[in-house]
Amino acid sequence: MKTLLQIFSHASIYTAVLFIAIAPINAQQVTIPIETETHAIVLQTDKNNLLRTVYFGKRLLGSSEYSAVSTVSRLDDDNAGIYNAVYTTAGTWNLAEPAIQVKHADGNTSLELKYVSHTREQPDDNTSLTRVVLKDNVYPFQVTLFYKVWMKENVIEQWTEIQHSEKKPVQMQKYASANLYVANSDFYLTTFHGMWAKEMQPAETKLERGTRSIDTKLGARAMLLQSSSFILALDHPARENDGDVLLGQIAWSGNFKVDFEVDAYNNLRLIAGINPFASEYALPANQPFKTPSFIYAVSGKGTGDASRNLHSWARKYRVLDGQGQRLTLLNNWEATYFDFDENKLTALYKDAKNLGVDLFLLDDGWFGNKYPRNGDTAGLGDWQENVKKLPHGLGYLVAEAKKEGVKFGIWIEPEMVNPKSELYEKHIDWVIRQPDRPEVYYRNQLVLDLSNPEVQDFVYGVVDNLFTKNPELAFIKWDCNAVIYNAYSVYLNKKQLPQSHLYVEYVKGLYSVLQRLRAKYPKVPMMLCSGGGGRGDYELLKYFTEFWPSDDTEPLELIFIQWDYSYFFPSIVTDNHVTDWGKQPLKFRVDVACMGKLGFDIVASHLNENDLRFAKEAVSTYHSYKNIVWHGDLFRLVNPHDNDIASLMYVDQAKSKAIVFNYLVNNRQRLVEPQKQVKLAGLDPQKKYTVKEINIYPDTRSPINTSVSYSGDFLMKVGINPDINARRASVLLEINEVK
Ligand code: DGJ
Repeated sequence: MKTLLQIFSHASIYTAVLFIAIAPINAQQVTIPIETETHAIVLQTDKNNLLRTVYFGKRLLGSSEYSAVSTVSRLDDDNAGIYNAVYTTAGTWNLAEPAIQVKHADGNTSLELKYVSHTREQPDDNTSLTRVVLKDNVYPFQVTLFYKVWMKENVIEQWTEIQHSEKKPVQMQKYASANLYVANSDFYLTTFHGMWAKEMQPAETKLERGTRSIDTKLGARAMLLQSSSFILALDHPARENDGDVLLGQIAWSGNFKVDFEVDAYNNLRLIAGINPFASEYALPANQPFKTPSFIYAVSGKGTGDASRNLHSWARKYRVLDGQGQRLTLLNNWEATYFDFDENKLTALYKDAKNLGVDLFLLDDGWFGNKYPRNGDTAGLGDWQENVKKLPHGLGYLVAEAKKEGVKFGIWIEPEMVNPKSELYEKHIDWVIRQPDRPEVYYRNQLVLDLSNPEVQDFVYGVVDNLFTKNPELAFIKWDCNAVIYNAYSVYLNKKQLPQSHLYVEYVKGLYSVLQRLRAKYPKVPMMLCSGGGGRGDYELLKYFTEFWPSDDTEPLELIFIQWDYSYFFPSIVTDNHVTDWGKQPLKFRVDVACMGKLGFDIVASHLNENDLRFAKEAVSTYHSYKNIVWHGDLFRLVNPHDNDIASLMYVDQAKSKAIVFNYLVNNRQRLVEPQKQVKLAGLDPQKKYTVKEINIYPDTRSPINTSVSYSGDFLMKVGINPDINARRASVLLEINEVK
C-alpha cells in the first residue's frame, strides 16, 4: 500500500501532514501517545496491526497530530523486518535483535505479537499508567506492556508482563523489560564502569552502526564491574544545561543487559532487561511473569535538568522514606576493622557523642563463636555475638549507646557464608556451588541460594532476630561482598526446576525477603552496601534508605565518584564518610563528606585539638543545612573531569538558601586558574543574597566578604569567587536570602 506521502507526492509535506491529522487512511489504525510534561512516546499500529514506536521526542502542542508522524518517516523495508516494533519478537519475519524470544510448549520458536487493546489510567494529576496488550494469533501467548509516567518529573517506568495458556511451560530465552526506538542521527552514550574501590568511572562514546551493550553476569554484587545506569545524549555529547538526554537505569539487582543498536536507518534501538545469559526461563501456563522496570528521565535541557527531575522523583515516589530524615553516624569499620571489644566500642560511642552524630554503627566482626569472625576468612553465616569480643551481648551495646545518647546500628551480610562456619557445616545444600567441582571463593566466601524459600526464611530470620532481641536497634548496614561463581542450586534441582532459573530466582528471593522485612519494619533506616557500590538501583532502593557508594573514601576520588552517582541518585541516598584514606587534611575530608549523607569512620579521640574542634563544629553546621543537601535541588556547576576545581550546589525549594561546595581537584598548582569565579544556579534572579564561608578551620580567616549582598541575577551571571587555591583546597559557601 502506498503511503499518503507517496500519494500526495505533488503536494507539500505540510499539506499531507495536515490531511492525515483529520482523515487517517486506515480507520482501524490506533495511535497511543504516552506523554510527559515535555516529551512523548507515540505507538501506532500499522496495516498488519503490528504496534510500532513511531515517535520518541519532544511533546507536540496538539496530540491529534501524533497520528501523522509515521507518514513523514519511512521505515518499511524488507531486509530485517521491523526495527521500530514496540516489543520486537523473534522467529518470524523480524530479524532484528529481539526483545522477546521464546520456544512454545510444542517446541515451535515463532512469535508475532499483534495489538489487541490498551487502557490508560490517571490515578492523579501527575501520574498515568498506560497498558498495552499484544497477542500472538497462532499461540495463546500474550504480552502486556506498561508505561508509568510521572508528568512533571518527565520520568517513565516501563515493564512487561508475559503470560500464556499453552499446555506446558513456554521456554523464554529473552524477555526484556523495554524496547525503545529513537529516531535521530547522532547518539552519544555514557556508561559507568567499575571495580572494587573504583566505582562509577564514566566513559562517553559516540554510537556507531551496530550494537553496543552494557551488561553483567556476576549474579550478586552485580554492578561491581558495570553500572546499569547510563546517559544517552542526542546530537552531541551530553551537556549539563542543554541538549536532549535520557538518564536510564534497569532497576534489577542481578544480571542485566542493555543493548544500544544503531540500525540501518541510523536510528537507535534500545532493549533493556534481565540478561538472557544462562537464564532461559520456563514459564508455566497462566502465571504472569513480570519483568524488572526500566526507568528513565528525559530532558531537552541537558543532564542537570534530567538529574534534578530524577532526584525529585526518587525522593517523592521511589526511595524508602525519600522525603524523610537520615541519621549521621560514626562507623567503626576503618577505625578498628575486626579488632575490637566492648571497651573499644563503648569508647567510640563517646567519639560519636562528642562529634555530634546521631548513631554508632557496629560493622563486620561481631559474630561467630566456633569460627570467630576475626578476619574475612571465617564466621560468615553464624549470626550470634562472639562471646569473647562481646561477652555481654548486643543488648548491652545497645543499652550503653543509649546511655551515651547515641543510637545503635549494626552490619550484616546475611546472603553470604564462609566455608569456615557452622552454617556451611549444617547447610551445605543452601550454598550456591557446583557439587562436583572445587569451590571458588570471592573474598573467602560463597553465596547462599536465595531461590530456596528456606534460605529466604533464614535471611529474613537474621534481621528479624536482631530486631526482636534488640527492639531499639536503629539502623542496619546490609553488605554483599561476593559474586556468584559456580552457579548451581540444590533446591532447583530437587524441585526439578531448570538451573537457568537461578539468577532470576535469586533476585526475586532477595526482593521477597525485603518485602517481608519492610512489612514488619517499615521505616528502620537500612544502608545498602556491596563491598562498596556493587549494588545501588531503584528496585533495592524501595527497601533501603541509602547506599554505600564506594570503599574508596579517599576524598579526591570521592568527589568524582559522588559527582558521577549524582547524575542518577539524590544525595540523600549516598553515604559519604570521613576516613583516614588520602593525604588531605581533615577539613578537606569533612567538606567532601558534607556534600552527601555525612558519616565518620575514624577514631575521633585521635584527632588533634584543632581538628576535633573543626569536626565538631562542622557536624553542628551540617545539621543546620543538611535538609538542603538531602532535599534541595542539585546544580552541578564546574565539572571536575574537565576542570581544576569541582563545584556543585544545593538550593532549597524556596530559593532562599543554598550551599555551594568547591574543591580543588588538580594538584598541579600551576595549572589552576586563579581567581576564577563560579557562576551559581537555581537562585531567584530578583532576590538579594549574602555569601558566607562556612566550615572555616580554627584560627583561619575567610577572604569572602559577608557584608555585601548580591542579586541572584548577579550570582548566576557573574558568579562568585570561592578563592580556591592550594591553601584553600575546599571552600563551602552558604548563600542566604536577604529578607
Ligand atoms: C565491605 C564494605 O564496603 C565495608 O564498608 C565494610 O563493611 C566491609 N565490607 C566489612 O567486611
